[in-house]
Amino acid sequence: MSEPNPGHRSRFSLTPQPAPGTIVRAEGCELITDDGRRILDAAGGAVVNNIGHGRAEIADAVAAALRQVDYVVPLWPTPNRTALADYLVERWLPSGFGQVFFAGGGSEANDTAMRLARMYHLSRGDEQRHRVIGRIPSYHGSTLATLAIGGHMDRRDGFDPMLAEHPKVPWNSAEAVAAAIEGAGPDTVAAFIAEPVIGASGPGLVAPLDYWAQVSEICREYGVLMISDEVMTGFGRTGLRWGFDHDHWEPDIIVSAKGLTGGYAPLSMVAAHDRVVAPLIEADKGVMFFTYSGHDSACAASLAVLRILEAEGLMERAAVQGERLRSALTAALGGSPHVNEIRGRGLLLGVELQGVASIDVVMAALERDVWIYPGGSGPAVNDGLLFAPPLVVTDDEIDRMAQVAAEALSAVAD
Ligand SMILES: Cc1ncc(COP(=O)(O)O)c(C=O)c1O
Repeated sequence: MSEPNPGHRSRFSLTPQPAPGTIVRAEGCELITDDGRRILDAAGGAVVNNIGHGRAEIADAVAAALRQVDYVVPLWPTPNRTALADYLVERWLPSGFGQVFFAGGGSEANDTAMRLARMYHLSRGDEQRHRVIGRIPSYHGSTLATLAIGGHMDRRDGFDPMLAEHPKVPWNSAEAVAAAIEGAGPDTVAAFIAEPVIGASGPGLVAPLDYWAQVSEICREYGVLMISDEVMTGFGRTGLRWGFDHDHWEPDIIVSAKGLTGGYAPLSMVAAHDRVVAPLIEADKGVMFFTYSGHDSACAASLAVLRILEAEGLMERAAVQGERLRSALTAALGGSPHVNEIRGRGLLLGVELQGVASIDVVMAALERDVWIYPGGSGPAVNDGLLFAPPLVVTDDEIDRMAQVAAEALSAVAD
């Protein structure tokens, strides 16, 4: 019998990844292990933390909420659930987005967006519309429905026989979207889903100028809903509220998660334009909730995080520090023959690698106490490093992450 390798697989994880030790505390941009190592969090965990680690105000807000109410069925209002929905509609969402649905994480939220798109068409009598067009590469989650619409080949591996078929298009071609709709049969297509800046599957990829305007036009023409997967890009990470704000288009459905609570609680959201919700109301249809949709304590965490984000101007800081990080990465890595491209927006930047595996570079950086997120969607496809530190990241921390990335790359390449 083979021995389990405790360094590579722990009891709580089915993913074989080595860990640096037990993280017992976190402060600012640092994670602190039980043996006192301080690891610089250049990825905000998994592009999650935005206001910095260890903010006591959030713990206080969650404790206060839990003292008042614990579990309340998601159909009923609770103080923070109602306040957060109001706050999102009034301060974050584009005008006309009057409906917010809560879920636990990004996969659940994208699954909900798929169901909402289907319900929209059903409510209008378009019974055949069920296909959701996704891009390659892309990542929308690890449930069977969200894997099926995603283009992360590594994460789909082995599950193909279990996944419903949905059309896929290359990430940068608007014509391919029109061709996919025509190929599938326009009256069978419910929605198109995309990340405005691609994250895990192709770190930092940004579609060409005019792509979004063209895709919006095509989707409008064919009656296909556009879902913007802002799980990584939402809530200021790219320097603007939403990823789509950079390209001057507007989706029908917005999905977001990570930055919504900065990782202080598990919570995600799906927001829909009133024109999407109206037919459901008319037809008296709905979308089933999850047991933990909009837990009041998670909504309390979110409200406290978003208020800090606004009060401290962290979205604006993401734009400024993002440019600084881009310059630092370009100076440290730009000349390497193993670096194809440095790209992205705000504090969501990718470094595409060639001739080395991103996971090896990530491990070499971790040995030097810097955590970078490994990206790519299959062996050597869009392989790269994803940088997404908390938005409070300092100039010195930026310099250190760029320098350590360069040292790690040299160590692996040599
Ligand atoms: C763009 C995008 N969508 C969806 C997800 C899935 O989110 P979760 O892991 O919270 O289910 C992720 C996770 O990284 C993501 O980056």
